[in-house]
Amino acid sequence: MSGSRTFTMIKPDAVLNGHMGAIIQDITNAGFKIIAMKYTRLSADRAGEFYAVHKERPFYADLVSYMSSGNIVAAVLEKENAVLAFRELIGATDPQKAAEGTIRKKYAASISANAIHGSDSDENAVIEAGFFFSQLEMFV
Ligand code: CMP
Repeated sequence: MSGSRTFTMIKPDAVLNGHMGAIIQDITNAGFKIIAMKYTRLSADRAGEFYAVHKERPFYADLVSYMSSGNIVAAVLEKENAVLAFRELIGATDPQKAAEGTIRKKYAASISANAIHGSDSDENAVIEAGFFFSQLEMFV
């Protein structure tokens, strides 16, 4: 992937509130190419595995329960400098601190239900994409 791909999930709150289409539109309008995309749902076990890096955090149990509470959209995206460019597009983790025009500012309600996930490094983008998609599904 080296720099050109990132991984995202549109989270249960955004799907439930009907923002899925608008968010995908924002993503493609920002110049990201969709390499792979899946409308799916995480079991609590799978959500726990995905967020295992946060296991010791006080919010881990709530995060796992929330992320397995409804459908999500998982996707692999491509653009130059994808990880950084995508984090700029989605805004700060806490929507109250997110810049105007960012996806979290527009669609997120709180730090726990914050509409969308974006990988924080190239290395994690590869790991997270592999959590949802086979090599064949990501081959374009
Ligand atoms: P995400 O980018 O998906 O990665 C980890 C998630 O943990 C993050 O988005 C937030 O939804 C959640 N998170 C991070 N910090 C907090 C916090 N202080 N309280 C509750 N949830 C948090």
